[in-house]
Amino acid sequence: MAYVIGVDCGTSGTKTVLFDESGKVIASAVVEYPMYQPKNGYAEQDPADWANAMLVTIKEVVAKSGVDKRDVKGIGISGQMHGLVMLDANDQVLRRSIIWCDQRTAAEVAEMNGKLGEKRLIEITANPALTGWTAAKILWVKNNEPEIYEKCRHILLPKDYLRFILTGEYATEVSDASGMQLLDVPGRCWSEEVCSALGIDISMLAKVYESCEVTGKLRAKVADEVGLCEGTIVVGGAGDNAAAAIGTGVCEDGKAFTTIGTSGVVFAHTSGISIDPKGRVHTCCAAVPGSWHVMGVTQGAGLSLKWFRDNFCLSEKEVAGQMGVDEYYLMDKEAEAVPIGSNRLLYLPYLMGERTPHLDPDARGVFFGLSAIHTKKDLLRAVMEGVSYSLRDCLEVFREMDINVSDMMACGGGGSSPLWRSMLADLYNCPVKTCSSKEGPALGAALLASVGAGLYSSVPEACHAVVRTDKVCEPTIGNVPIYQSYYSLYREIYPALKSSFSALAKL
Ligand code: XUL
Repeated sequence: MAYVIGVDCGTSGTKTVLFDESGKVIASAVVEYPMYQPKNGYAEQDPADWANAMLVTIKEVVAKSGVDKRDVKGIGISGQMHGLVMLDANDQVLRRSIIWCDQRTAAEVAEMNGKLGEKRLIEITANPALTGWTAAKILWVKNNEPEIYEKCRHILLPKDYLRFILTGEYATEVSDASGMQLLDVPGRCWSEEVCSALGIDISMLAKVYESCEVTGKLRAKVADEVGLCEGTIVVGGAGDNAAAAIGTGVCEDGKAFTTIGTSGVVFAHTSGISIDPKGRVHTCCAAVPGSWHVMGVTQGAGLSLKWFRDNFCLSEKEVAGQMGVDEYYLMDKEAEAVPIGSNRLLYLPYLMGERTPHLDPDARGVFFGLSAIHTKKDLLRAVMEGVSYSLRDCLEVFREMDINVSDMMACGGGGSSPLWRSMLADLYNCPVKTCSSKEGPALGAALLASVGAGLYSSVPEACHAVVRTDKVCEPTIGNVPIYQSYYSLYREIYPALKSSFSALAKL
């Protein structure tokens, strides 16, 4: 039997899973690490934490699985997108990574638009200048920490830094590279025009591969440390969303998924390139060679519920501990007891600004309609509904772009909540399915490794062979119009507050 490993470098932790060639989980391990928020709107992580988490978890799964290391045929890495890792001439990390949800770069976004023009930037990179994407972060370091920028010789994304640790190669792949805003997304290569307009030396960027291509081999020292063979192949892998697509079988037109992790993403595969001229959803290269995807992103999805849990659900944590169940399970049950609309309470999940559809780093969270009758349970359900409304916003943009979705999967931590899935099914008015494997991005990365190792001849072939649908949540016809009326009101709140958010940011 052949085995493959998928590593997923997430925001709350890194998870590594060892699968057999049929996609069955043989062993998995997670190591968590902190996110630092030195200022409102800032978000950073330490690349050393990612590297440590990856090495510890690979070692753990190899040891736990008991498989012969010669049967492990390849490793795929997936990870949080857009983070900036800078290395000096001695390959030392120069500063903490500024990660995807950081919003400090408003001035650099204006600089990018000024230097390239909004229209040209969208033509080349398929996306408007975005505060959370890597190019703006590179410019921020250049403008604010010139002494660090001067020393920088290599620029890597989070998962590509992990690849460097494993293989010593400076390499990336098209799906994650699309989120740097330096890639010619239609042409699937770095854009000399963008790099030179922004004054970024193209030689600092990693070599670009397709996601299933072999990018390097495991170095002897690392192989010894984790218990694998020197020379085990490491494929491109993918950004976490593109990897989750492969892990949920979203590799053909009509297929889409919604993931509720720290961020929330609605993602659809497109065999041709499709760009929203208003830039509300991202267009990136897919992990399937020669195709693309669109994705709408809600910055504070699972993050909203985690924030609520950490600040207001200490008793649920305690009770869950006593009962031996997950605290989110109890929270789900509490929210389920509240009627649709949370007793006339709405929540805007903009704790970290918002991307789709507002592209507004200054937006912030709101409870709207708070009354003395409300209890914690109403707020809890309102948080889950607000995240679902904001995911529906993403689907609305796809519909405007004529991207037809006939098959919607749900994944991520939030996708395992039956209540959240039913909200999505009612709000999308379409069935929402789950996969029998819950390993989304890690499975996707491992499937890319299977293709790189020659176990399957193409990415779609690997998806068809391995990914299986599990539960199907149908919309409840009577709920659809009720949610619709709350959603319509939800859509009115942001425009009414837009200028107040911006005033708040300036106080
Ligand atoms: C996508 C995005 C997030 C991160 C973190 O554009 O920023 O989904 O990849 O998971």
